[in-house]
Amino acid sequence: MKKILALLLALLMVTCLLTACGGDDTATDTNTEGGDANQKPVLKMATNAYFQPYEYYDANNNIIGIDAEIAAAIADKLGMTLQIEDMQFNSILNAVKSDAVDFGMAGLTITEDRKLEVDFTNTYATGKQVIIVVEGGTVASPDDLAGKKIGVQLGTTGDAYATGDYGLNEDETPNGNVIQYNNGNEAVLALIGGAVQAVIIDNEPAKALVAANAGKGLKILETEYVYEEYAICVKKGNTELLQKLNTAIDELTKDGTIEGIINKYIPAN
Ligand code: ARG
Repeated sequence: MKKILALLLALLMVTCLLTACGGDDTATDTNTEGGDANQKPVLKMATNAYFQPYEYYDANNNIIGIDAEIAAAIADKLGMTLQIEDMQFNSILNAVKSDAVDFGMAGLTITEDRKLEVDFTNTYATGKQVIIVVEGGTVASPDDLAGKKIGVQLGTTGDAYATGDYGLNEDETPNGNVIQYNNGNEAVLALIGGAVQAVIIDNEPAKALVAANAGKGLKILETEYVYEEYAICVKKGNTELLQKLNTAIDELTKDGTIEGIINKYIPAN
C-alpha cells in the first residue's frame, strides 16, 4: 500500500513538473492588437519570467518586460502571433533544440559554450554581472568573495563565472561555496536570510531585486564583474528564422523601437 501511495505521489509530482504547477506556465499572448490573432501563425518564445526588467509578471499575470515587448514587435513584423512559454532558465536551450519553441529570449548572454548548442542573432542589448551584498556585511569587494557562500541562478552565466572563480576545489570538484537557486529572487532571499554572503546576477535584475527589497540593507558593489551581450537563440542551423529575426532586430534598431522599449523599462538608460 505504501509503495502504491509513493508511486502515485511520484506520478503526481512528475505531472506537476510537466505542467508547471503553480500557474507559472501562463502562455501569454502579447499580441492583442485587433483582428483575429488566431489566424496568424504562432511564434513560440521560451523564457524564464523572473528577470525584471527583461521578463516578469505584471499584476494581471501577463509576462511583460524588455524581451517580451521586443519579441512582440518582432512577431508583429513577421505577421505572427507571439506566444511566450515560461520555464526554468536552464530548460530554455533544450526547448529550442528540441523544437518545443521557435526561439529563446531571456536576457540570454551569448557565450562560446552556448554557441556550440544553439545559434544566436545579433545582439539587441548589453548587460553586466554585478555583485549584490548586505550593507556592512563580510563582502565589500570582489576580493572578499573567495571562501564566502555565493548565490546564483542555476545555469546562468553568473553561475558559470562564480563556479569557475570561487566554486571549485583544486581538483575541480565543487567546494560547496556557490549555491544555485531557481531564480534571482530566491538567491536574494537567501542573502537576506544569511545563507549566502553575495549574489552574482545581471545588473538590471540586480537593481530591480534591490529595489523590491528596499529597507533590507542590500546594495550592489561598485565594481562590475563581467560584460555581456544579450541575443535571441534559435535551433542550430535554422538559418531561415535566424535571418528573419536579424532583419527584424535590424529594422527595430534603426527605427528606434528597441531603444524606446529599453528606455521605457530602464528610465535612466
Ligand atoms: N544573462 C544571464 C545568462 O544568460 C542570465 C539570464 C537569466 N535570464 C532569465 N530570464 N532568468 O546566463
